[in-house]
Amino acid sequence: MNIKKVAVVVGGAVMISVSLLSLGYSADKSGGIYPNDFGPTSIDVSQYPPKMKMYYHLFLNKCSACHTIARPINSQFLELTAAEQAADKKTNPEIFSHPKVWQVGQKIWSRYVHKMMSKPGSNIRPSEGKRIFEFLVYDSKIRKTGKNTEAWEANREKLVKSFKQNYPKDYARIFGVASSTKKTASGSASAAPAHHS
Ligand code: HEC
Repeated sequence: MNIKKVAVVVGGAVMISVSLLSLGYSADKSGGIYPNDFGPTSIDVSQYPPKMKMYYHLFLNKCSACHTIARPINSQFLELTAAEQAADKKTNPEIFSHPKVWQVGQKIWSRYVHKMMSKPGSNIRPSEGKRIFEFLVYDSKIRKTGKNTEAWEANREKLVKSFKQNYPKDYARIFGVASSTKKTASGSASAAPAHHS
């Protein structure tokens, strides 16, 4: 076997995968790029309760296996109970009218964590999924509503806007071409059955 040739081939493959990674894109298991992928890659949990700090580390570990951890961190998903939604309609009405910034649902994280868990090679046990789910529900309420409403809106609007400019095809893949309609991110149809209990 020609060792030099093998080395060149392997080197080439490594270079290609490195350049894909530097785009935040791993063709095999990430499902393509999302606006979320270009946002912050950590959360300031210093003021969170100890339990949530623990769950945060589980989340970082498990939810970065196939795509960047920025994807869930900068997601528009916001899980609120019916009662919470009724209260927020009075105090935080804007979160119900910009689905690319806040996609509100009663089971939205529950459904999504289950979807991620069911992907081949996801390596997340049910007990871990439950903790990650609890973290995402808690964290989304803190970072996307209340006194952080405007900061969240600015962050998310910026991501969506530059994604639309820089990756129009991917934008259309995720949000549809008629971007002014209420159509929101793929794979989160609100009519899907809920698994979480
Ligand atoms: C086994 C690989 C894998 C793991 C592990 C994984 N994901 Fe994903 N994730 C994907 C793929 C692929 C997509 C693209 C959409 C799809 O195929 O469902 C995606 C998309 C997403 C999106 C974008 C959804 C949208 O429509 O805007 C979010 C948010 C997300 N993942 C969160 C998570 C969270 C939270 C975890 C940890 C519980 C996680 N992912 C773990 C593969 C994975």
